[in-house]
This record gives sequence, C-alpha cells and structure tokens, in this order.
Amino acid sequence: MHREQISRIAHAEHPIKSPLDDDSVRRLLERGLTRGDERVLDLGCGGGEWLLRALATRPGVRAEGVDISEDALDQAAAAARDLGVQDRLVLHHRKAEEFVSEEPFDVVLSFGAAHAFGGLLPTLAAARRYLAPGGCVLIGDGFWEHPPSQDAVEMLGNFVDLATTVDRVVADGWTPVDGHVSTRQELDDYEWACWGSLAAWALDHADHPDSAQVLETATVRRAEWLRAYRDTWGFVSLVLRRTPDSA
Ligand SMILES: C[S@@+](CC[C@H](N)C(=O)[O-])C[C@H]1O[C@@H](n2cnc3c(N)ncnc32)[C@H](O)[C@@H]1O
Repeated sequence: MHREQISRIAHAEHPIKSPLDDDSVRRLLERGLTRGDERVLDLGCGGGEWLLRALATRPGVRAEGVDISEDALDQAAAAARDLGVQDRLVLHHRKAEEFVSEEPFDVVLSFGAAHAFGGLLPTLAAARRYLAPGGCVLIGDGFWEHPPSQDAVEMLGNFVDLATTVDRVVADGWTPVDGHVSTRQELDDYEWACWGSLAAWALDHADHPDSAQVLETATVRRAEWLRAYRDTWGFVSLVLRRTPDSA
C-alpha cells in the first residue's frame, strides 16, 4: 500500500498529525490568533487540520497551507468545502522550502514538519521570511526527555533536551510567549491512535490484498515506539515572537 494511504488510515482517529489533544491545539491557536483577522500560513500543513480549526472559529481569518502530499491537500480541500471555509483557504502543492509569497503573514505555523527544513532553527529561519512585523510563529517539534538510544536517534533524528531546545530558539532571536510540553497522555494517545487505527483497518479488511502488510506495519511501528523511543522522546510547542533587538 502507498505510504500516503497508510498515513491516511493511521491518522483517521487523530487528524492532528502531532501528539497534541484538541484542547492544546485550541489554546495554542488562541495564543497566536488574538485578533481574529490574521493571515495565517502553515508550512507542512498535511490535511490542514490547524488551518481548518482556525478558519472555522474565526470568520475574519485567511489561510494558506503548503505541503508536498497531494493526498493530504485533497483531504484539506474537501474538509474546507464541508466546513464552508474554502474561499478563505489557499493550498499550495509544493516543497515548503520553495514556497514564495508576496504578502507577509501575521502567523506562521509549522508542526511536526521541521525535518523538511533540516531542523527547528532552519524552520524558524524559513518562517521568518514570511512573517509580518509583530507577527508570531507557532511551532512544534521533538526533543529528548531523556538521553536516547542509538536506535531512537536513527528512527526520529537528532534532537536535544528541552532546555537546550529553548535556549537555541532564544539565541536565534525569538522570545517564547507561551508553550506547551505534550503530556504523557497526549504522546501515548497519538501513538495508540496511529498504530491502533492501522491494526483495526487490517482486521476489518482481512480480504484486502494489503491487509497483512498493514498489520505488519502497525505491529512494527508500535514495537518501535514502545521499545525505542516512548521513554525518551517528547514534543514541545512554542508560541514565538521576534526579540526586539533581533527583529
Ligand atoms: C507529521 S505531518 C504534520 C502535519 C500537520 N502540520 C499537522 O500537525 O497535522 C508532516 C507533514 O509535513 C509534510 N512535509 C514533509 N516534507 C515537506 C516539505 N519538504 N515541504 C512541505 N511539506 C512537507 C508531510 O507531507 C506531512 O504532511
């Protein structure tokens, strides 16, 4: 089965493709979108869940999303039509690092997509290019809660601990005005939702030619999570504004 189809099934019960619950997403959006008429950009928007929630609750907001996944963007477009917000959403099918915009954005989002830019700081450098003066960035990325195994690094990438993560962001000219560290419940709920949805799909489609492959993927990924990174990996979301001297 195609990687994007697997991702679609895995996220069926958890459309936010990051370990954050609905309350955390709502609160982070509230901190970033204080006026209600912002122009919002999401780099690596996936199915557009963050933008859809912003648009559905704020009739004055306009949004643009960028992603390389045509399948995810199709899902975002369909959901926008269902919600009646399609006139205020523009979706760009391209690499986020190649996106250009003539108009700046009041809020730039990027959750779980920093690997596309080569890490957190390069993602912030990209976000800064689009940011209007006085604007803010909402960004979510991983960190090591405890020293990782070599397997975990190979699987998830090269993170640092939370304090060092925030120190680096501050040294890069950003001031955190809010943040959220995903709870154990949010981290576990996300992983169970992904690998549980895949396993359930395989059991429900036992006659499908890809059923065995999907069940195997669920089994392997669940074991990787439990054995390699559940006890060491965390996820932090930051609401950032430019520090005055760095603006
Ligand atoms: C973990 S998902 C997060 C999606 C969304 N931000 C969310 O939190 O629901 C990462 C997304 O980054 C996208 N992505 C990966 N590389 C990218 C790139 N170079 N440019 C744009 N999007 C990219 C993937 O297609 C995927 O939709």
